[in-house]
Amino acid sequence: MLIRGASFIVTGGGSGLGAAIVRALVEAGGRVTIADLNAEAGQEIAREFGSDACFVKADVTDGEEGAAVVAAAVEAFGSLRGLVNCAGVAPAEKVIGRDGPHRLESFARTVGINLIGTFNMIRLAAAAIQTTEPDAEGERGVIVNTASVAAFDMPAEVQAALGKSVPFPPRLGRPAEFAGLVRHIFENNMLNGEVIRLDGALRMGAR
Ligand SMILES: NC(=O)c1ccc[n+]([C@@H]2O[C@H](COP(=O)([O-])OP(=O)(O)OC[C@H]3O[C@@H](n4cnc5c(N)ncnc54)[C@H](O)[C@@H]3O)[C@@H](O)[C@H]2O)c1
Repeated sequence: MLIRGASFIVTGGGSGLGAAIVRALVEAGGRVTIADLNAEAGQEIAREFGSDACFVKADVTDGEEGAAVVAAAVEAFGSLRGLVNCAGVAPAEKVIGRDGPHRLESFARTVGINLIGTFNMIRLAAAAIQTTEPDAEGERGVIVNTASVAAFDMPAEVQAALGKSVPFPPRLGRPAEFAGLVRHIFENNMLNGEVIRLDGALRMGAR
């Protein structure tokens, strides 16, 4: 797909991986609607890109708020060709931790945002992408979802230890590296229906 001139939604675009993807897409000529719960962070990123980005405060787990994001993207930029799901949380809890069993509420919240929220945005964005004019190859749009091999809301020393355990390079990934991959996914039409690990060959051990 040609990113230049195309319209995208990035959930969680106010921070981290999402913000890096907003930057990469706008730099490639795309127009981006940022959806995030954190209005301050999302608006700040959108302001950086002037008329090429807009912000909608939304909880991805909410049907109506998700629909409002898609409607805003279509209204602002005429159509929708892509969705990148980056809104997510990662509570660093073990099934049995020092303080007892994993809290059920935090697990349910994580499933709500990372799984149901992702599906909510997929279904709503797909309905809009379906109505977008296909390009010369017949492509209407692309959806990219994000997952994690590990939680990252961890103390700094745990993150440092995790980084050192990556075979090569021995560090955690950088948002710009992830954004570069997402850009390539959009631009390479044969890359479809695939799960891609961007993890320096890290395989998590039992502990
Ligand atoms: N950072 C990494 O290295 C890394 C690696 C692999 C996977 N991941 C996963 O990618 C996702 C994003 O990671 P990140 O590091 O960018 O996190 P982050 O905390 O920097 O950004 C997440 C954004 O999502 C938003 N958000 C949270 N809940 C929301 C909701 N219900 N509705 C709308 N927005 C919501 C937050 O406000 C925040 O701006 C997470 O699920 C994380 O587990 C991160």
